[in-house]
Amino acid sequence: MDAATGTLPEPQVQAMFDRIARVYDRLNRVMTAGLDQRWRRRAADLARVSPGDPVLDVATGTGDLAVELRERVGPEARVVGLDFSEGMLELARVKAPAIEFVQGSALELPYGDGEFAAATVGFGARNFSDLSRGLAEMVRVVRPGGRVVVLEITTPQRPPLSLFFGLWFDRIVPVLGRLAGDSDAYSYLPNSVRRFPGPEPLAAELAAAGLVDVGWVLTAGGIIAMHHGTVPEQG
Ligand SMILES: C[S@@+](CC[C@H](N)C(=O)[O-])C[C@H]1O[C@@H](n2cnc3c(N)ncnc32)[C@H](O)[C@@H]1O
Repeated sequence: MDAATGTLPEPQVQAMFDRIARVYDRLNRVMTAGLDQRWRRRAADLARVSPGDPVLDVATGTGDLAVELRERVGPEARVVGLDFSEGMLELARVKAPAIEFVQGSALELPYGDGEFAAATVGFGARNFSDLSRGLAEMVRVVRPGGRVVVLEITTPQRPPLSLFFGLWFDRIVPVLGRLAGDSDAYSYLPNSVRRFPGPEPLAAELAAAGLVDVGWVLTAGGIIAMHHGTVPEQG
């Protein structure tokens, strides 16, 4: 297992994010021409939360999606961002001191059933070593009627975007990674995207995890997918 195949053991993924934490936000802005924050805003909207709702952002990294959620639920609500990389969390805590940033594993969330009104994950699900378990955990901690949202890069199926995507990910992103001093991390990125399920199979995974009303929105010419679903009411 290595960066070239887009699969790495968990401790290596964690160490990789610890290493790139300091350049992560800046590289995101450069690699997406500043659009990444707009995608997080749309993903947060899909969580359909109301003021006061408790919310969880899984694989929160430097916390940008948690910040978007907080804007929707307000300062009184419980907002938790969970990640296994302390390096990323340190930056998140500086960025948003009011949010509860917790070190932990997405595959074993340290929360009870139905504790949150919504759970989101932004650009993190493709790193899960066990995707169905990660999704099942998000579903478990959300209350009936609550929402689960997965924001992820996806591989566009049709030209011209598929051609541009290949060029961007295979040529430019690894060069940016080399310039940032971590070519391994930024060759892992395109490969982890490529092995991640496309929009339809991912929707099937969400349904298999127990969600209903599953749907997805594609944006950025089909490069970005926002999947969403609702935890069914019991009975
Ligand atoms: C590409 S970053 C995304 C960060 C952030 N959500 C964003 O929107 O920019 C992926 C994050 O997922 C975290 N991660 C990956 N697998 C994880 C797991 N199993 N448990 C907890 N965090 C995980 C990494 O540490 C990293 O911070």
